Amino acid sequence: MKWCSLEIIFLLDDVGGSSMNEKEKEQTGKEVSRRQFLTYTLMGIGSFLAVGMLGPMVRFAIDPALKAAGAGGSMVPVADITEITDVPKSFTFTVKQDDAWVKGQQATKTAWIYKEGEEYVVLEPTCKHFGCMVNWAGSPNHPDQFYCPCHDGRYTKDGKNVPGTPPNASLDMFEYEIRDGKLYLGQLIRRT
Ligand code: FES
Repeated sequence: MKWCSLEIIFLLDDVGGSSMNEKEKEQTGKEVSRRQFLTYTLMGIGSFLAVGMLGPMVRFAIDPALKAAGAGGSMVPVADITEITDVPKSFTFTVKQDDAWVKGQQATKTAWIYKEGEEYVVLEPTCKHFGCMVNWAGSPNHPDQFYCPCHDGRYTKDGKNVPGTPPNASLDMFEYEIRDGKLYLGQLIRRT
C-alpha cells in the first residue's frame, strides 16, 4: 500500500510539472508575439517618419524644376535692354517657385546685370561664403568689385571670387535670352 501511494504522488508531480511547462511555454509565446508586435509597430512608425522627412529633401535635391528661376524652368522678363549698361545694375523680379512643401509661391529675386560687348552678364548676388547679399561697389576701397559686407568678401566684375577674401567660389549666374527688347532670365548656373 505504501509503495502505491508513493507512486501516486510521483505521478501527480509529473502531471503538475508538465502543466507548469505548458503555462511557461504559453507565456513565452505571448511575450514573443508582444515583442514582435512592438518591433513591427516601431519599424512602421520609423519608416513613416523617414519617408515624411527625407522625401521632400530628396525631391528638392533631384528635381531641377525646383531650382529654376521661373516656374518649371520657364524664362521670366526682368529688364528692358535699354536699361542695361556696362556698369552692373541691380534688378529685382518675381518668380513662381516651388519648394519641397509649398507649390507656386511667389519669390522676389535679384540679379546684377551688365553688358559686356554684345553679351550680357547676369549674376546672382548670394555670397558663396555664408549667403549674405553682395553689392557692386559696396566698398569705397574697391569701387570696381562686388563687395559682401558680412566678412569683407569680394568678387571681380564678372563674379569671380577674389583670392584672399572669405568666399571660395564665384557668384552663380542666370541663363538669359533677349526677346522683343527684353532680357529674360531662366535657370541658375552654378559656379565653383
Ligand atoms: S557671407 Fe560674404 S563674406 Fe562672409
